[in-house]
Amino acid sequence: MQNKFKAVLLAAALLTSSGAAFAEDSFWSWLIDFSRQKEVQPVTNKVYQEECGSCHFAYPAGLLPGKSWAKLLDEKALEDHFGENASLDTDTLKEIREYAMENAAEKSWFKRSRKIALATAEGEAPLRITEVRYIKRKHHDIPEKMIKGNKDVKSQSYCNACHTKADKGIFDNDTVSIPNFPDWD
Ligand code: HEC
Ligand code: HEC
Repeated sequence: MQNKFKAVLLAAALLTSSGAAFAEDSFWSWLIDFSRQKEVQPVTNKVYQEECGSCHFAYPAGLLPGKSWAKLLDEKALEDHFGENASLDTDTLKEIREYAMENAAEKSWFKRSRKIALATAEGEAPLRITEVRYIKRKHHDIPEKMIKGNKDVKSQSYCNACHTKADKGIFDNDTVSIPNFPDWD
């Protein structure tokens, strides 16, 4: 009994010494990361955030599979990016492309990314997030007047017009609010 007690004390002493502070920190950040896994990883690359967040909100890379990013983030393709010129210099494009490919839906463990990876595993690479089956299904009952006819939304592409925490990668129903339609849910 006495020895067991000593062993517990020794273990406690070891835990509170040297490595403990680090262990505790990494435990909490692990826990926070883990609890977020049900959503989408927010953008973590500064260049991507700046260059791809100037015309619309910077879409988290986990919202599309790598094969889509490969098509979108191509020198020629960016010259006519949905009717806009979104060209980048070679080095910037390389960094953004690598970032998007490394964090694409099929590379992520976040739940929504897994679903997007699954929904796009077969067939043509979608060029829009809004074309992904899983995303379409989630929005099919929203009337057009709340999207295109809504001056504060304009298009389904402006996720953050309705998803108030989109920049944190959070899209759950509790954080949705359609501008000018406060009663819709
Ligand atoms: C010059 C403005 C501009 C820049 C810069 C820009 N985009 Fe876009 N992007 C657009 C427009 C316009 C659309 C179409 C929006 C619509 O249909 O309402 C779009 C649409 C998209 C879509 C499809 C969204 C959907 O409908 O699902 C993706 C993905 C996208 N952009 C990614 C990027 C990435 C990644 C970058 C950075 C390399 C970028 N964009 C930079 C203007 C821009
Ligand atoms: C016009 C407002 C609006 C826009 C724009 C919009 N959404 Fe949504 N979204 C909603 C609403 C409302 C719901 C909840 C639907 C419901 O209650 O069933 C939703 C649901 C979702 C869900 C499912 C949430 C859950 O808990 O299952 C995801 C994921 C999502 N949206 C992603 C996106 C992405 C990504 C974009 C941009 C490409 C986007 N949305 C653009 C209004 C919008």
